[in-house]
Amino acid sequence: MSVNTEIRRITTNTVQEMKLNGEKISMLTAYDYSTAVILDGAGIDVILVGDSASNVMAGHETTLPITLDQMIYHASSVVRGTKRALIVVDLPFGSYQGNSKEALASAIRIMKESGAHGVKLEGGAEVKDSIERIISAGIPVMGHLGLTPQSIYKFGTYSVRAKEDAEANKLLSDIQILQDAGCFAVVLEKIPAKLGKEATSLVKIPTIGIGAGPDVDGQVLVVNDMLGITKGFRPRFLRQYLNLFEEITGAVKQYITDVKSQDFPGKKEQY
Ligand code: KIV
Repeated sequence: MSVNTEIRRITTNTVQEMKLNGEKISMLTAYDYSTAVILDGAGIDVILVGDSASNVMAGHETTLPITLDQMIYHASSVVRGTKRALIVVDLPFGSYQGNSKEALASAIRIMKESGAHGVKLEGGAEVKDSIERIISAGIPVMGHLGLTPQSIYKFGTYSVRAKEDAEANKLLSDIQILQDAGCFAVVLEKIPAKLGKEATSLVKIPTIGIGAGPDVDGQVLVVNDMLGITKGFRPRFLRQYLNLFEEITGAVKQYITDVKSQDFPGKKEQY
């Protein structure tokens, strides 16, 4: 008898089943091969190749500057590092808002050139046509509502969204539009926990929260933030699991000392 050791890939159906079964969905961002290998091996359900790469990888102040080519580079590196996780890639700013044909062309490039399994884009009613066109080509789409960082210059601040009725009601209407357009899941970013719960109960598709409280179907964090690589970024919603900034700084300082003092390389570290 042969044992089947094949690892089964998480699909958009799997995450929808997880919502039905009440199993929470775990999602983290990744932008490179080595991190993707670690997250995948640890059993993460979904990896988001977020346009937050613009901030944490490239050092930009916002997500706006990152290009489609750069997203494809990050995404293809992540895909090569995974066997199990569902890989979703952000459509960068300017690659889908213009018209739905452009949106589809951008999504096709991501799927073809990176090997990812779906795309994410920000917005509600305004991007409905783009979502429908992308899905009609067989490409799964994840929505993103609440604090949508590509609109930072419209918001003017990264503070909590939809605290007032008008914006909350628009979010509740948008999430139904995204469901009807065919999105397989929706990210809810930085909104009151009560609204996260209400939005989640309104739709059959899974909601994945970042600062949207506990009553959503899954959680996502930026991996550099939860590992404590990002210095000085401590929003209330963030749980920091390590302080890698301090740990890596310590290791680098020790390395410098060892090189200067000629302690490194030792007898066993040479040929
Ligand atoms: O780009 C990103 O990392 C994201 C998450 C914050 C959801 O969109």
